[in-house]
This record gives sequence, C-alpha cells and structure tokens, in this order.
Amino acid sequence: MTNRVTELLKIEYPILMGGMAWAGTAKLAAAVSNAGGLGVIGSGAMNADQLLEAIQTLRKLTDKPFGVNIMLASPYVDELVQVVLRESVPAVTFGAGNPAKYIPTLKEKGIVVMPVVASDSLARLLERSGADAVIAEGMESGGHIGEVSTLVLVDKVVRSVTIPVIAAGGIADGRQMAAMFALGAEGIQMGTRFLATVESQVHENYKSRILKASIRDTVITGAALGHPARVLKSPFANHIRQLEAKSPLEAEQILVGSLRRAVLEGDLESGSFMAGQSAGLIEQILPVEKVISEVVQEFFQTVERLCKEVLR
Ligand SMILES: Cc1cc2nc3c(=O)[nH]c(=O)nc-3n(C[C@H](O)[C@H](O)[C@H](O)COP(=O)(O)O)c2cc1C
Repeated sequence: MTNRVTELLKIEYPILMGGMAWAGTAKLAAAVSNAGGLGVIGSGAMNADQLLEAIQTLRKLTDKPFGVNIMLASPYVDELVQVVLRESVPAVTFGAGNPAKYIPTLKEKGIVVMPVVASDSLARLLERSGADAVIAEGMESGGHIGEVSTLVLVDKVVRSVTIPVIAAGGIADGRQMAAMFALGAEGIQMGTRFLATVESQVHENYKSRILKASIRDTVITGAALGHPARVLKSPFANHIRQLEAKSPLEAEQILVGSLRRAVLEGDLESGSFMAGQSAGLIEQILPVEKVISEVVQEFFQTVERLCKEVLR
C-alpha cells in the first residue's frame, strides 16, 4: 500500500500501534514494525532512562521505523522529548493534550510528529503548529478518551485539515479500516487489537478478559475526576464509578497504579483493564503479523466488494 501515511513514515501498511502505557512494550512495538506497520513504545509513566532502555531493546529487535508515544500528563515530558531527540526516533505520537510547543524542535530533527486529537479544533490548531499528521481518536477507544465517536470525529477532522488523518478508536478489522478510508482517513491506529496478540506482554488474565468481552462490556471510569478512561467492566470499575462522585480524592488514590496492576499482575480485584469497545470483536490471540495481514486483506476485499456491488 502506498499513500501519504506510508510515505511519511516509510512503512509498508498505514497501520499504527496505539501508544499504550505499560502495555506498549519494545517487544510488541518491534513486532508491529517488523510486520510492516508502525510499532510505538508507550512511554506512559517511564522516566528518561527507562525510555532509553526501551528504545535500545526495540532497536535490537527491528531495524524498521518505529515511534514513541508521550503522554502529556507525564511529569517527565521534557526529558522524554530530549531522549527522542537524542535518539533520533523516527516518529512521535502525543496523547492527552496539546503538544504544540514541542513540535518545532522535533521537526528540526526530522522527527515525524503525530498528536492524538479528540476534536476538530485541536486538529486545526496542531496543523497550524506544524504537525505532520493527526490521529483522530474516538470515544470507543480503550484508555483515556474524548467525547465524540470515531465515525463523527474522523469525518469532521478530515474536512478540517489538509494533513493526513489517522483514525483510531474501535477499529479491529479490515472492514472498519475501509470504513475509515471511506471517510478520508489515510491510516488507522489500533490499541486493543494489539493487546490480544502473541507478542503482547500483558498478563494472561488481561488477554482472556479481552477475548471474553462482548461489545457492551466496557465502562468509563474517571469521568467525574476529569480524566475519563474506557476499561473492561469489573467490580473494581464499578466501585471507582460510585466512589468518584462521592469521594474524588479516594477514587484518585485507588486508581494510582491500577493499569500497571492489570498489565503486569493481571490483578482482577484492583486492576484497570483498559480496553476499547472493539474488545467485543476480538475472538483470537494471534501473532501480530497475522493481525496486520488479515486487516490488510480484509480491507482490500471490502473495497473490491463495494466497487462491485455499488458500481454494478
Ligand atoms: C491499555 C491502554 C493504554 C493506553 N495508553 C495510552 C497512552 O499512554 N497514550 C496514548 O496516547 N494513548 C493511550 N491509549 C490509547 C491507544 O493509543 C489507542 O489510541 C486506542 O487504544 C485506540 O482505540 P482501540 O483500543 O479501540 O483500538 C491506551 C489504550 C489502551 C487500551
């Protein structure tokens, strides 16, 4: 496949791995890059040394382009950006905010900058600030979310900017990829689908919970705290939802470390199993390479079917 996203990132398929705190390991990112997509290290709560180590690990596993995701809520943003600059990382994605002030320095180094946006207004602002592409992430997605669904958001963002738009949120197969391309997206980003792969290092409980989930098995926690996140339903998620309205401080305290507990320990009692609605579409743990080849194959079959059916 060749389009503006594959050319910008020098990758085979316009498929990005979502940056995922704790879950977006060097091993998983390398597998995505080796399969022709863009693997992305989720720097999440890492400090500079930890990110450097992850980049070095990834470089031992692949010589393909890759990215680093930086959460703007991290206390280490400035030092993480320095690592990315020093290491000449090919691409950076930014989550949870407005990274405009970092764009000029990164671009001077030739680093591709792709912020995640949940609104058309932020997409326009970041295009003016020099972003190379935007990732429009709808609220079906796993992890921290905005308020608009992917179908509406991607349509609006595509009409609002001229840089490439990568669609994210709820996407786990090639038919959905075709739907996003029909709206004008030039790439997709998947998070939850890549959690349920052989190379994903999340705890087995995490993978099996994704496989068992139906499309209605996620809820939003943290909305009353100002940082809504989509997680798999559980007694813990229910408890947080009840607590956050009554006792926000207590809810915040319990949430600290809850994604780490889910990813590393599979902690069913006090872990936040962040996942998107697309968990309900995922039926098998597959190698990353198979996920990507199936998505691409189904994408082409869908486009072909539509052409035949509609242009008959
Ligand atoms: C476990 C998990 C952790 C995530 N952590 C981050 C993060 O640290 N930074 C970020 O920008 N997005 C994060 N996300 C969002 C993903 O990058 C991606 O955009 C999202 O998963 C796409 O939706 P999907 O899960 O429906 O595929 C996270 C998602 C999940 C499932």
